[in-house]
Amino acid sequence: MINRLREVPPTAGLTLSCKDVLPSKKSLESSLASFLNTPTTQIECSGTAALTIALLALKKSSARQTVIISAYTCPWVPIAVIYCGLTPVVCDTKKNTFEYCPDALVKSINQDTLAVVVTHLGGHVASNLGEILKLAKQQGSYLIEDAAQSLGARFGKQFNYKAAGTVCDIGFYSLGVGKGLTIFAGGVLVAKDESLRKALRETSTEHAHNNLLSETKRIIELVGYYLFYRPLGIKWVFGLPLRRHLLQGNMIKAVGDDCAFKFPIHKVSAWRKNIGANALARLPIFLKQSQIQAQQRIQQLKKIKGLIVVCQTNDHVDTYPFIYVLMPSEQVRDAALKSLWQQGLGVGRLFIHAISDYDYLKSHFQQSNTPNAQDFAARGLIISNSQWMREQDFLQIQQILLQYA
Ligand SMILES: Cc1ncc(COP(=O)(O)O)c(C=O)c1O
Repeated sequence: MINRLREVPPTAGLTLSCKDVLPSKKSLESSLASFLNTPTTQIECSGTAALTIALLALKKSSARQTVIISAYTCPWVPIAVIYCGLTPVVCDTKKNTFEYCPDALVKSINQDTLAVVVTHLGGHVASNLGEILKLAKQQGSYLIEDAAQSLGARFGKQFNYKAAGTVCDIGFYSLGVGKGLTIFAGGVLVAKDESLRKALRETSTEHAHNNLLSETKRIIELVGYYLFYRPLGIKWVFGLPLRRHLLQGNMIKAVGDDCAFKFPIHKVSAWRKNIGANALARLPIFLKQSQIQAQQRIQQLKKIKGLIVVCQTNDHVDTYPFIYVLMPSEQVRDAALKSLWQQGLGVGRLFIHAISDYDYLKSHFQQSNTPNAQDFAARGLIISNSQWMREQDFLQIQQILLQYA
């Protein structure tokens, strides 16, 4: 029964303050560079635009035609590849994780592979990056880190505690709505070498122009985010539309997987960047608090027999926009979600399908065999790590999961 005035958002996002409109001391680019410990950062209008600029930059200096993407990722990733006139090659994941299966990657990568996109999903760094790096190097392919959901996550000792996104050739982050730091829609690009950074800058100058209409829309949306991203506001802009989509049985729309092949690439205004630069100052503390909350709740979830919590066991420092949980089967997952998803408790799904199972993408992929990613999508649900999820909310979720797992 839904009688809630409050609603828990599906991910942990940083709220904006009215003071964020005051002039920031440092630009968003340089604040992010300090935060990530990189020489520079480049702002684009979305994570998808950032990946597109990266691929277009790499394509200029190579005749290679394919880009390897994970079989469990955001539909915007293959869309960016296709937009660039390149061919996405889908590679399966390791069982019960979002990470590449190294054997499947060996079979997918070849001399035509321009780049491999490695995903750090849900704030978790890909723990087998060392292996992937080796494979990519052997084939002379670039490695792009998709840290769209992982701004602030860090590798462990193996990679000198570097920020996720800054180890490989190019990395990108999303500043989209629902992410830790948001300017409603935005992307960040980083690159290891100055030659790549120069190529990214030049490609952006060629493709990202001023677009008054798109930018005005984003400014209005960002003001809306400031006004409504609160426990009593989120129901109106997120909860009610979500429940309408669920009632109509439209899961793809319910999670926002209804991506389009046409997407904007334009410059981001100084006004939105200024908001982002001010909000960024609050991000480290916010992430720390989110980590503490998630770790405590993961310990509770781990006590539920039959349920797998997707989390790291090594010395990486992950961020937790949500907690990804695998149920024993798709039927059990669906039964639990039937009780939970409508309730405004912050429980739902991440990506509805493995990437080759989206009808609108199917024709762009060669026949691919991705049983692990399909299983990961079929058994998975996410539990928000929002600061607004109270103990009583979490207890209610635990009880329902216990009943079904
Ligand atoms: C893993 C992943 N990659 C890429 C993107 C695209 O980022 P954006 O929505 O900012 O275009 C997203 C979006 O959520 C994502 O989750």
